[in-house]
Formats: sequence, structure tokens, C-alpha cells
Amino acid sequence: MKTEIPSINTGRLTLRPLCAADAQALFHIYQQEGVLRYFPNTKPPALERIEGFITSQQAHWEKFGYGNWGILPDGRENIAGWVGLQFLPELDETEVGFLLGKNLWGLGYATEAARASIQFGFENFKLDHIIALVHPDNLASRRVIEKCGLSYIDRLHLWGIDLLRYSLVAANKGRVLTAPGMDGR
Ligand SMILES: CC(C)(COP(=O)(O)OP(=O)(O)OC[C@H]1O[C@@H](n2cnc3c(N)ncnc32)[C@H](O)[C@@H]1OP(=O)(O)O)[C@@H](O)C(=O)NCCC(=O)NCCS
Repeated sequence: MKTEIPSINTGRLTLRPLCAADAQALFHIYQQEGVLRYFPNTKPPALERIEGFITSQQAHWEKFGYGNWGILPDGRENIAGWVGLQFLPELDETEVGFLLGKNLWGLGYATEAARASIQFGFENFKLDHIIALVHPDNLASRRVIEKCGLSYIDRLHLWGIDLLRYSLVAANKGRVLTAPGMDGR
């Protein structure tokens, strides 16, 4: 049976499953100057690769129960980017990631979408923490990550580039759970 990918309304955005028809919109977004500037591969991908990414996301949802969504701002027909959670076997950790078309930068959309993704992850899965990986010079993304409450952990070399790793520990980690009547009060 296929996993039913949920849609989430975050206020100004709908995070909804990626579908084959989104490839064209993502193709145009990747062509925009600067969008891939801080990615391991800065060359805009061919349409076929984007179709492969969309298919791989369906498989990721099937396997882990979470993955990337398309970001649909209110009143728009086409997605403006993607956001969500990915399991990284290289690190054995789950990462929050996001990418938006340039015309919608600076509106707080990435922060809104990333916060909803993190909340979805912690509420539905036993993740003890979620990380974010970012190029040191990607100041806008670092700011988004910090606004989502993640803290800097370390610097690592992955996929051929240097990246900063940030992490947010699940809220209930480390809290001592006390049964009613057993806390001495
Ligand atoms: C990074 C990205 C997702 C940010 O999206 P966004 O919707 O503009 O982000 P938000 O509006 O939620 O927040 C951006 C923050 O960065 C700040 N910012 C933007 N450019 C900045 C810069 N050059 N230096 C410092 N801060 C900057 C903004 O002022 C804002 O912070 P504030 O709310 O405190 O004012 C978007 O630029 C993007 O898609 N870039 C290309 C893909 C990418 O790099 N993805 C991340 C990979 S780790």
C-alpha cells in the first residue's frame, strides 16, 4: 500500500506532496541565478534529474514516513520550492532542508516552512534530534536555521564541500518524567 503523504497548512503556505507535474516549476527555479550557489553541485539540473528527485522523494516517504514537500504559497498555482526532512545515511541523522524561488526570498517563507517540517518530524517520529547542513557563506540559510532554534555543532566536509552542522534536540529529551504522586509533593 502506498504511503499517504500528508499536506500541511502553515498559515501562508501549503506543504503538499511533490508530483510529476512539479518538475517544470522546479526546473525554472533551479535556473535562477544564485539558487544553487551554495550547493555541492551549482549547475542547474536537467529536467530528467528533477523528475528523478521527485520520484526519489515518493520512495523516501514510503521508507521513512517523512520526506520533502512542495511549497505552495497561498493563491499560487505552481510550487515555489521544496522543504522537508531527509534521512542522511552518511551521518545517520535526519536533516531539514529548503529551497525557494528567488522572487519569494525575504518573506519569511523558508522559516515558516522549515518550522512546520521540524514540528512534523518531532510530533510523528521518535527523532531525538534534527540537523541542518549549510555552506558557511549561506547567511540567509544560516539565519533561517537559527530562527528555527537549531544550534551550531561542528564543521564537516561532505559531498565535496565544507558545511556547518546545526542541531535541534527534541523538546522531551533529557526531561525527567515523574509519575503523579512520585515527585514528593
Ligand atoms: C535560504 C533561503 C531558503 C531563505 O529563504 P527565505 O524565505 O528568504 O528566508 P526567510 O525570509 O524565512 O529568512 C531569511 C533570513 O535571512 C536574513 N538574510 C537574508 N539574506 C541575508 C544575508 N545576506 N546576510 C544575513 N542575513 C540575511 C533575512 O533578513 C532573514 O532574517 P530576519 O527574519 O531575521 O530578517 C532562500 O534564500 C533560498 O532558497 N536560497 C537558495 C537555496 C538554499 O540555499 N537553501 C538552503 C540550503 S542549506
